Parts: sequence; structure tokens; C-alpha cells
Amino acid sequence: MSVVNHLPVDVDPADLEHVARCVAVLAGRLIVDERPVDLGVAQTKSSRTDIVTEMDSRSEQLLRAELARLRPDDGVLGEEGTSQAGSSGITWVVDPIDGTVNYLYEIPAYAVSVAACVGDLADPERLVPVAGAVFNPVTRELFHAYAGGGARLSVGEHERRLEVSAQTDPALALLGTGFGYDSAKRARQAALLTAVISRVRDVRRIGSAALDLCSIAAGRLDVYYESGLNPWDRAAGQLIVAEAGGVVRGVDAEPTSDLVVAGPQVLVEQLAAWVLPARTWIDPAREA
Ligand code: IPD
Repeated sequence: MSVVNHLPVDVDPADLEHVARCVAVLAGRLIVDERPVDLGVAQTKSSRTDIVTEMDSRSEQLLRAELARLRPDDGVLGEEGTSQAGSSGITWVVDPIDGTVNYLYEIPAYAVSVAACVGDLADPERLVPVAGAVFNPVTRELFHAYAGGGARLSVGEHERRLEVSAQTDPALALLGTGFGYDSAKRARQAALLTAVISRVRDVRRIGSAALDLCSIAAGRLDVYYESGLNPWDRAAGQLIVAEAGGVVRGVDAEPTSDLVVAGPQVLVEQLAAWVLPARTWIDPAREA
């Protein structure tokens, strides 16, 4: 069934996309314009390297306030702790800075990611994006899509349709991936990469899953996989890939935090066939 059929009857996904674009750009400008010169790490989360800066918190506050103003009946789920149920059937899934480590180091590959989803906030893994926007405030690239409307890249006044790569040969495919903050998990992810790296053209680790997915939509990467992504890392990007003609899957049909594989169908199925048997996203301690 098309995701459009899950939408509340009075909701137009194009309107949600407009909201996603507006708030992503506002938050993106904030993190660049108001970045303190002495920006440091405000707190850490899952490990000493899983960081939050004061601008992550400020960006999420701005997103929450703007969404409450524009869509007061919707729910919001954010990376930095927002979890607020709504009554409209729409939940916004936001990443106030995806690529926080790049942001800290002033590497210009970070973005604000905003997605309008349908589904149950109590089961965030299964929220289904119906509109979304990813904004890189340094390049001013705004990637956006709504269900059934195609994916687009806007830079200022210029806008173009996005299409995934036409590459079908895995040996010629440029592969994107990423790693988690937990060092034991990263070691398992590295082991998995050794099963893949010699079979593709080359590998890129950009440092922002949202921008990785948008790069897939724009054909700047041919195929991408990562284990351990959270809903806010992937919600907008996975819709943008699907609307650019790509496929996004997980261990089973739907992407989850265990695994996301994205790209043109042929490459996604090949990648899945290589990575699925390894099951390296399973912590051996969890299975013991
Ligand atoms: C991280 C980035 C990174 C990916 C990690 C994510 P954050 O998100 O998207 O590329 O490899 O898995 O956690 O922490 O910068 O919002």
C-alpha cells in the first residue's frame, strides 16, 4: 500500500514538505550564524565520542518551537531528547545536526534533517516518512521530497529533480557507509567492511548519514549501507532516496536501526546479499 494511504485525510504531503524545508533552513542558518567561536562539547551520550554541542540543543529547541507554531497538533521526536506525542497522526522526526563531529571540527558535511512521518511515536523504528528536507547550511543545498512528488535539490532559486545512479555493476560502484560511536561496535562494522571493500570501486565515509542518503538520491554515491542508524539519522533521507527512484531496505523489507541499505535496486540487493550473512550488527554479548 502506498504511504500516501496512511496519511490523515486532511493532510497534503506537499504542505508538510514546505514546512520541513522552512524549518530545516531556519535551524541550518542558526547553527552557522550563531556558532560560538569557542564551541566545545557540552555533554556526551553513548560514549565519550558521542557528543552534543550547545548548538545541537539550540537547533532542536528552534525546530521544536517552529513546529509547535506551524503544526501545533503534531508530535515531535528529536535526537537531543524531544519526544512529544501529537493528536494529528503526524510525527516530526528531527536531527538538529546530523554530522555533529564534522560540525565540531568545521568539516563542511553536516546537515539539519527534518521528516514528517506517520505511525506510532511509541514505535519510532516503524515511523514512515511522508515528507522531508535535509539542509547543508555550508553548501546551502536543500534536499527535499514528499511521498509521490519526487525528490529535488534546491540551491537558492535553482531547483532540479534527483535520480539515483544508473550504475548496475557493483565492481564500479562507489559505496558510502558510516560507523557508530561505540568502539566495540565500530570494530564489528570494520570487519563487515572488509567483506565488501574489495568488491566495489571505493568507499566513502562522509560522516553524516542524512547527507549520505541525499548523495545516493543525487547519484553522488552509488550505494550505501550502515548499521546502527537512529530514526532521526535516516527518516528524511530514506524518503528522498525512494522519491529519487531508489530502494531503501533493512534486514527485512523495511530499514531499521539494525541495517539500512540504499541505492538503485540491483546494487541494494547485491550489497544486502554480501552484508546480511555477516550479521555483525548483533552484539555477541546480547546473543550469549
Ligand atoms: C551520526 C552520523 C554518522 C553516522 C552515525 C550517526 P550524528 O549522526 O550520521 O554519519 O555514521 O551512525 O550517529 O551523531 O552526527 O547526529
